[in-house]
Amino acid sequence: MNRAELNRGVGEVLIDEDRLQARIRELGDEITQDYAGKELLLVGVLKGAVFFMADLMRTIDLPCEIDFMAISSYGAATSSSGVVRILKDLDINIGGRHVLVIEDIIDSGLTLSYLVRNLESRDPASLAVCALLTKPERREIDVDVRYVGFEIPNKFVIGYGLDFAERYRNLPFVGVLHDDLMPEGA
Ligand code: IMP
Ligand code: MG
Repeated sequence: MNRAELNRGVGEVLIDEDRLQARIRELGDEITQDYAGKELLLVGVLKGAVFFMADLMRTIDLPCEIDFMAISSYGAATSSSGVVRILKDLDINIGGRHVLVIEDIIDSGLTLSYLVRNLESRDPASLAVCALLTKPERREIDVDVRYVGFEIPNKFVIGYGLDFAERYRNLPFVGVLHDDLMPEGA
C-alpha cells in the first residue's frame, strides 16, 4: 500500500500527530514525577503498543527497561472474542520490579484485565497501566488504568500502531476506519 491507499482507509483524522506527541510528553512528565527515585520496567503489549511505547519512553527521565508480551486479541475482526491467550511471555522476571504496562487501546478491557491478573501473580513491587486510548462506552469489565492519553468515542480506529487486519499501523496519526472498510455488524 502506498500513502494514498493508506489514507483512503481513513474516514477522518481523530488525533493528529502534534496532539499525540504533545499528550505523550505530558504523560512522560507525569510518569517521571510519580516514579521519581525508582527504576521502571515498561511492559509493552505487542504489537500495537510498540509505537506509543517508543515515543513515551523517550519522554521518561528515569532509568528504565523494556520487555514485551504478546497476547491474542481480535485477529482480523473488529470485536472482542473474550478469549485471551499468551503468545509470547516476558523474557525477565518481574518480581520486585515497578511495572508499567503499556497498551495501545482499551476497548472491552477483557485483554487488559486478564493481563493485569496474570502479572500481579508474579509479585511485582508495583503494577500500573498506561494506555494511549480508551473507549469508555465499550468497557465490559472494570480495569484500573492510571495513565490515559485520550478518551475516544465508540469507533474503530487505526494508525499510530493500531491496525485493521494488520494494516495501517504506520500512519503517524490516529484515524477512524473508513465506513467502506468496516465489516458488516461490527
Ligand atoms: P479489549 O480486550 O476489548 O480491551 O481489546 C483490546 C485490544 O483490541 C487492543 O489492544 C487492540 O489490539 C484491539 N482493539 C480494540 N479496539 C480497537 C480499535 O478501535 N482499533 C484497533 N484495534 C483495536
Ligand atoms: Mg490489534
